[in-house]
Amino acid sequence: MKTTAAVLRAGNGPFTVETLEVGEPGPHEVLVRVVAAGMCHTDLLSRELPPEFFGGPQVYGHEGAGVVEAVGAGIGSVAVGDHVVLSFNSCGSCPACAKRRLPYCFNFSLHNMSGGRPDGTSAFSDATGARVGSHYFGQSSFANHTVVAESSVVKVDRSAPLTKMGPLGCGIQTGAGAILNTLKVESGSSVVITGAGALGLSAVMAAKVAGAGTIIAVDRHESRLELASRFGATHTVSGSPESITASIMQTTGHGADYAFDTTGNAAIVRASHAALNVIGTIALAGVGFGDLTVDFLSMISGRTITGVMEGDSYPHEFIPHLASLNAQGKFPYDELITEFPLEAINDAEAASASGKVIKPVLVMPS
Ligand SMILES: NC(=O)c1ccc[n+]([C@@H]2O[C@H](COP(=O)([O-])OP(=O)(O)OC[C@H]3O[C@@H](n4cnc5c(N)ncnc54)[C@H](O)[C@@H]3O)[C@@H](O)[C@H]2O)c1
Ligand SMILES: [Zn+2]
Ligand SMILES: [Zn+2]
Repeated sequence: MKTTAAVLRAGNGPFTVETLEVGEPGPHEVLVRVVAAGMCHTDLLSRELPPEFFGGPQVYGHEGAGVVEAVGAGIGSVAVGDHVVLSFNSCGSCPACAKRRLPYCFNFSLHNMSGGRPDGTSAFSDATGARVGSHYFGQSSFANHTVVAESSVVKVDRSAPLTKMGPLGCGIQTGAGAILNTLKVESGSSVVITGAGALGLSAVMAAKVAGAGTIIAVDRHESRLELASRFGATHTVSGSPESITASIMQTTGHGADYAFDTTGNAAIVRASHAALNVIGTIALAGVGFGDLTVDFLSMISGRTITGVMEGDSYPHEFIPHLASLNAQGKFPYDELITEFPLEAINDAEAASASGKVIKPVLVMPS
């Protein structure tokens, strides 16, 4: 069938909205009518990489929400008409998947970033019949219709508006999960969150849900720090790395129990790592490039540095949990959303890059 989708044809080029042919769902796949899809920074990673890393024309998007329109062979978990949030994919059979640690699937790249299905085929082709990459994070949801791996599909309650559900599939579950699943922040503890964007502000909300006593948000934009205060930060900080460390130490005394980085900036990571107490842990989600160096002895004393993917989420349980917290008014992540029609995808990117918009959500034509 024909569908409308945003295609990225060059790593640093604009998205072009085109009519594509989308194939039938194969075994263990479903065809989803996407209602809306969030834009995450990871969709734009090709802007930061050398051109040779660009794998060819592709449909990005990995925070989709929509309705199941058709199912392929062997589908048992969802049926036509179900409302679904689309999340990352995993192989289901490696040692990490066996431990339910799906974001750390040993075959993550093959199932999420190879430009198609693991067998090398793609679900999309353009008006000339040429291949367009699909299955980005198992879904490629900057499209009105897309073919999705069953393991990326999470069934959700029909009562929630689908225009706000997509971001639960990546950015929001990563921020909240870093606090609730990775760091397991306890009631009364102190937590530093560097970067108050989509991930950082979800983390602030989750730290409040966890009952953290001290929540310190760090950003370079005053407007973002104001939002952090509104959503639960008890303190806000901006300035040089040295002043960030000093301010956290002054607020916490012995240093912070936990830190979560979403900036991907090595100097900012070092600044909050230096302000952990000796048994403190920092979790890194922001994507950085090159080396990250920290003081050797500061690690021997007992501190922990860990990476975090997708908030250590088991999406089929964590996404409904976050949706339920949202319905109870305890996790208002939807206040971070600004909607754009799919045709305005390049404006959505610009508004996000300028800091004006925290979480753009692209609403599909029909
Ligand atoms: N690990 C994962 O699973 C995962 C999942 C989703 C996104 N990400 C990555 O997380 C990062 C954050 O994503 P986001 O959607 O929250 O982005 P965002 O742009 O909405 O937020 C980043 C924030 O960090 C602030 N910031 C950046 N550098 C800073 C500095 N030097 N000093 C102070 N503040 C600084 C920015 O002002 C911004 O508010 C991106 O790198 C993204 O690719 C990782
Ligand atoms: Zn993402
Ligand atoms: Zn796996």
